[in-house]
Amino acid sequence: MKIAFIGDIIGRPGRVMIKEHLPKLRREHGIDFVIANYENASHGFGITLKNAHELLATGIDCMSGGNHTWDKKEIIPLLETLPMLRPHNYPSEVPGSGCRIFDVGGEKLAVLNIMGHYGMPYVDNAFRCARDTVASLREEGIETIFLDFHAEVTSEKRAMMML
Ligand SMILES: [Fe+2]
Repeated sequence: MKIAFIGDIIGRPGRVMIKEHLPKLRREHGIDFVIANYENASHGFGITLKNAHELLATGIDCMSGGNHTWDKKEIIPLLETLPMLRPHNYPSEVPGSGCRIFDVGGEKLAVLNIMGHYGMPYVDNAFRCARDTVASLREEGIETIFLDFHAEVTSEKRAMMML
């Protein structure tokens, strides 16, 4: 399975780059699944409904979020239906989910979005969340798990890598 991951798409210049280049890159490299981060896609803060639909139409299969997921309120109800994640370590009462399972050519792929702690709003422990979620996905028989760890510092990212 060939997965492409695109980091934060920032504002109009980022959206234009995606629209102009992603369909071609996807074809040229035989990419099976594209994940991209949406949380700064509209004016650098969150994403509008219009921009979400435009970006999903370019060939992005799943969009991951972060602390700016909530900046454009119109997107919040759609977190339940569109293939868009918010960090999984927000309380479970918060709309949306940080983990979705996709079928990619007959193979299951879990995409997990977790947020770090340094410089971020308070959320549940990122490391416990990752450990427990990965364990339950493995119990379900899912072997391919992609984690977008939305964190500010390399120390947290390295610690997550060691889990
Ligand atoms: Fe962020």
